[in-house]
Amino acid sequence: MTISSVTGLKSTVTSPPVPSRPMADEELPSPPTSYPADNGTTTHPNGTLQQLPQIIIIGVRKGGTRALIEMLSLHSAVAAAQNEVHFFDWESHFQKGYPWYLSQMPYSFPDQLTVEKTPAYFTSSKVPKRIYDMNPDIKLLLILRDPTERVLSDYTQVFYNRLQKHKRYQPIESMLVKDGEINLRYKALNRSLYHVHMQNWLQYFPLENIHVVDGDELIRDPFPEMKKVERFLKLEPQINASNFYFNKTKGFYCLRDHGRERCLHDSKGRAHPHVAPSILQKLYQFFHQPNKRFFEMVGRTFDWK
Ligand code: A3P
Repeated sequence: MTISSVTGLKSTVTSPPVPSRPMADEELPSPPTSYPADNGTTTHPNGTLQQLPQIIIIGVRKGGTRALIEMLSLHSAVAAAQNEVHFFDWESHFQKGYPWYLSQMPYSFPDQLTVEKTPAYFTSSKVPKRIYDMNPDIKLLLILRDPTERVLSDYTQVFYNRLQKHKRYQPIESMLVKDGEINLRYKALNRSLYHVHMQNWLQYFPLENIHVVDGDELIRDPFPEMKKVERFLKLEPQINASNFYFNKTKGFYCLRDHGRERCLHDSKGRAHPHVAPSILQKLYQFFHQPNKRFFEMVGRTFDWK
C-alpha cells in the first residue's frame, strides 16, 4: 500500500531517502484523518519508507530525553526522528493530521522501528488519548529523574533561553518560594509532580506498555539502563558497553558509534544554580508524598531525595 492510498499524501518524496539519526532539540478537536491501519507510506527505490512511530519518548522535559533517543539510535533496528515533533500537544500540528505526522518521520527500512521524542507529551493531559487513538499498542518510554533536580534543570533551560533573547529573568529562589512557602504557581514544580501526569497515561495504557527509564542512572551508568530499554522493546541485544565512554571535560558519558565519538550538545549537562540548603530541604519535603504516590502507581521505587 502506498502513502497516497492510505493517507492521501502525494507520493513525491523530498527528504533524503536514508534512515536518519537524531541531531538537534529544543492546543482544538479531533484529527482530520483516520489512523492509517497498515502504517504504510511510499517506498523509496532503496527500500526505505516513512513509518508512524512504534515507540514514543513522552518525556519528561529535562529528564534526559535527548540522551535516551541518541543512545537508542545506536541500535541498527531503530530510526529516530531528528526534531521534537509536537504533534499530539500542539493544535496547529495536530490539525494537520496523520499525513503531516508521517511526513516528519525519518526514512527507515521496513523492519526498523521508528521513534520520536517530544518531552512535553508527558505533562499534556490530552495527549494520552490522542496517542491511544492512533495506536493503543504503542510502546512508550518515559525518562524521569529526581524531581528536585529536574526543577533546577528546567529553570536552567529557561534561564539560558531568556538570556539569549536578552529578556529579564528572576533568581531561582524567588521562583521557588513566595512568602516563605513553596510557590505552587511555578510551572516547573508541577511538571515534577509525576504521579499527577502518570495518572492520565494509565487511564489509556497498561503499565506493561510504559517503560520508565531512570534518568539519574542513565547519567551515572548508561549501559545497564539501555539494556533494559532494549529488553522492553524486544530488540535483539546490540548496544554494548563500548558504545559509551566517560568524557571528563563534559562530566558525562558520550557515545561511540562505529568508531565515531560524540557528546551531547553543550546545552545538555549545564551547571545548575546554587540554591540555599533550607530551600532545597523545603523542596525535598514538598516532593516526598507525591514521589511515594508515584512509586505506588508504578510498583517501583527510585532513589530520589
Ligand atoms: P542538565 O543540562 O540540567 O544537566 P533533556 O534532553 O530531556 O532536555 O534532558 C537534559 C538532561 O539530560 C541534562 O540536564 C543532563 O543532566 C541529562 N543527561 C543524561 N545523560 C546525558 C549525557 N550523556 N550527556 C549530557 N546530558 C545528559
